[in-house]
Amino acid sequence: MKCNMSVLQNARLLLGVTGGVAAYKAVDLASKLTQLGALVDVILTEKASEFVTPLTFNAVTQRPVWRDLWEPAGAAAANHIELGHAARMIAIVPATANTIAKLAHGFADDMLTTTALASTAPLLVAPAMESNMYAHPATVANIETLRRRGAFILEPEIGRLASGMVGPGRLPETSALLGAIRYILGLNGVFAGKKFIITAGGTQEPIDPVRFISNRSSGRQGFALAEAARDRGAAVTLITAPVELATPYGIERIDVQTAAEMANAVLTASAGADVIIMSAAVADFTPIAPAENKIKKTAGRQNGELVLQLRSTDDILSKLQEHAEDFPQLKRIGFAAETTDPLGYGIDKLKRKGLDMIVINDITLPGSGFGSPTNKVWIAKASGEVTEYERMPKENVAVIIMEEIENILEHTPDEV
Ligand code: CTP
Repeated sequence: MKCNMSVLQNARLLLGVTGGVAAYKAVDLASKLTQLGALVDVILTEKASEFVTPLTFNAVTQRPVWRDLWEPAGAAAANHIELGHAARMIAIVPATANTIAKLAHGFADDMLTTTALASTAPLLVAPAMESNMYAHPATVANIETLRRRGAFILEPEIGRLASGMVGPGRLPETSALLGAIRYILGLNGVFAGKKFIITAGGTQEPIDPVRFISNRSSGRQGFALAEAARDRGAAVTLITAPVELATPYGIERIDVQTAAEMANAVLTASAGADVIIMSAAVADFTPIAPAENKIKKTAGRQNGELVLQLRSTDDILSKLQEHAEDFPQLKRIGFAAETTDPLGYGIDKLKRKGLDMIVINDITLPGSGFGSPTNKVWIAKASGEVTEYERMPKENVAVIIMEEIENILEHTPDEV
């Protein structure tokens, strides 16, 4: 088995931290990046080091930290060239209005802006400032200049700011920053130019305006798959039933509620797609006639029973198989969450739905299936090959699935 690698493993990154109160959040980012295997070189502006010390970053990254006027005489010029060349990308988190203005106009009057100017690496800028500064035409124009020049801008969030005002200007959470960095690092990955459709969550089938039938799917596995595919350069459309998860950076999200809505969205999005991963838990049955108004406690009751009439939903994977000529290059990957005989039922589904691959799990095992952060899976392929994997975080299951898909795509001739 190939090593379970994150796109951040051994990636050398340059993190520029400028002088805003959100600078403290850059410590968490540097720490998470390091934990995920990245080699993080930090440059602090002088103002940033009034908010957080170089020592803090040194402690979390275990690497030298650079700051204006800090290096021994003569070392700075060599350092900024080397740091800028070695970095696979530069992330400026948080980026103040002042640094954004300097970057837009090519100023190079401190270690960070000089290094950025001397580097051809992709640039991510995460502005964080007071709302009026962010909305000022000068800042808007400077951000636009950077964007036009190819920089990636992570928009600030709306929230409470240091000034006490509420408005746009807050630095996004670490998970969003990580997502943007992973997206940029993956742009030329193995799936560059490939289109992936990934479904997630448990569909909701309405009984009346306040009630529905659903299942325990949290959507975590599907979202982890979407991120893992994006990390390898795929253009990802994530079709999701209602879940409590934020949209990962660089992923197109389509929200649906019912199995029928999911089927429509999948069939539309699959035109021209290379891979579909159906990790959603799609309802097999839906109420025949959802009530227009809330069903009252006393209505329709006979001997204390209320009978709901259900009909079967369409099987989305089977529909894709039926219309296979409309999706010539589409590889179809299914999931099977089972409570008994997982391999027997899983392999049966692989064959019945004509899949290229199925990911099978036994949801009765501890640390596996719905709601759990981990999963233990078997992967069965159309070739007959079956591989059993250890229990692992759903993010790592996603990586393994990507490696298996890479294998399937590699063994598919371009012209069928
Ligand atoms: N699936 C689908 N459309 C449905 C139901 C399921 O495409 N209407 C997909 C799921 O997303 C999953 C695979 O089919 O990838 C297997 O789903 P599962 O619920 O395990 O199997 P079913 O075919 O529904 O069979 P059973 O409920 O009898 O286990």
